[in-house]
Amino acid sequence: PIYEPGLDSLMVDHRERLSYTLSLDQMLGRSDVVFIAVDTPPTYSGDADLSRVMTVLDELEATGADSRHILVMKSTVPVGTGERVRAELEARGLGNVGYASNPEFLKEGAAIEDFLDPDRVVIGDFAPEHGDAVEALYAPLEARIVRTTVPSAEMVKYASNAFLATKISFINEIANVCEEVGADVSVVAEGMGLDQRIGPAFLRAGVGFGGSCFPKDVTALKQLAGNSGYHFQLLTSVIEVNELQKRRVVNKLKKHLDTLEGRRVALLGLAFKPGTDDMREASSLVLAARLLAEGTRVVAFDPVVTNAGDLVHGIESADSVEAAVAGADAAVLVTEWKSIVDSQWGSLVDTMATPVLIDGRNALDPDEMAAHGYTYEGVGRTSP
Ligand code: UDX
Repeated sequence: PIYEPGLDSLMVDHRERLSYTLSLDQMLGRSDVVFIAVDTPPTYSGDADLSRVMTVLDELEATGADSRHILVMKSTVPVGTGERVRAELEARGLGNVGYASNPEFLKEGAAIEDFLDPDRVVIGDFAPEHGDAVEALYAPLEARIVRTTVPSAEMVKYASNAFLATKISFINEIANVCEEVGADVSVVAEGMGLDQRIGPAFLRAGVGFGGSCFPKDVTALKQLAGNSGYHFQLLTSVIEVNELQKRRVVNKLKKHLDTLEGRRVALLGLAFKPGTDDMREASSLVLAARLLAEGTRVVAFDPVVTNAGDLVHGIESADSVEAAVAGADAAVLVTEWKSIVDSQWGSLVDTMATPVLIDGRNALDPDEMAAHGYTYEGVGRTSP
């Protein structure tokens, strides 16, 4: 029940090779390599919740996995989990079951492409034959394989996500300074990204990062460090900067509209990024809740998310950009869906009560929008 471009047709094309069962017994009878791909949401303390992983072990004990089987951990789990699972397997009399860590790096919305053409495949094992079996599965992809220990493999995942999140919070802070000093963060990011040591990816300033991974994994790594006695200062700031970034749009709106009470604001795009219907930790949720608390009428449009009102009580859903924007005192581009970016901005402007346009993703051309008659404001760029 997720939206992932290309996945439905891929599943149809390969339906002969796919089978589904709720019976672990039946599955174990037909498999050698068993991937654990359950979710590991944060608990109240910020640790990763491993209860679903443990449920798998309970079920394996009940069904009786054996030396033929290799468990492969796809779920993002704290460093040390592999060793814990190993010990749990022994305690359940499943010591002969193999184990490998094989973290997942794919991005939602680009899952198929990222799977077929990964930057790297990381495999950690306790015994080389188990890693070899997993490596053999990936052979057709001809990807760069990194073989290592289980704790190092687990750490690669957390460190990668935390670094990418840090890059985003960094460029968002640069953007905020750019606004103060009259520089343009898009150009600054381009200039920085040309330095090979920095690289151009993940330097897009905006309304903060969301999704099922970055917020959860950054918190989990901070927590993991704290549990082992180390205060990960940098990550505390990365999280805080991101929370503040989600709220900055509210002040921009206040600047142009004086008060937000009784105003009508259109939110264009709700998903945490284009190409998905995932609303977990989406910046739109924080923004909508903040605006509603200010007494603003929030009318939202997203091409795939249509249940916004169920997520934040009070959001009104519109079925098009036109419907969301008509009569609005301001429009905020929150998610850079192509269909939203390509809207007929020239004709939309006349339907608004006041033509204030906040571009939360720097997806639009400031001069073009100004020429249409909008009061345009992006992130980290001076308004025309
Ligand atoms: C991320 C990791 O990229 C992936 O390797 C991991 O397996 C899961 O977590 P995902 O959450 O699907 O993937 O989305 P991603 O494309 O990384 O974007 C995450 C968030 O960062 C989005 O909200 C996006 O809008 C934001 N972002 C991304 C920026 O604000 N600026 C950027 O330059 C890039």
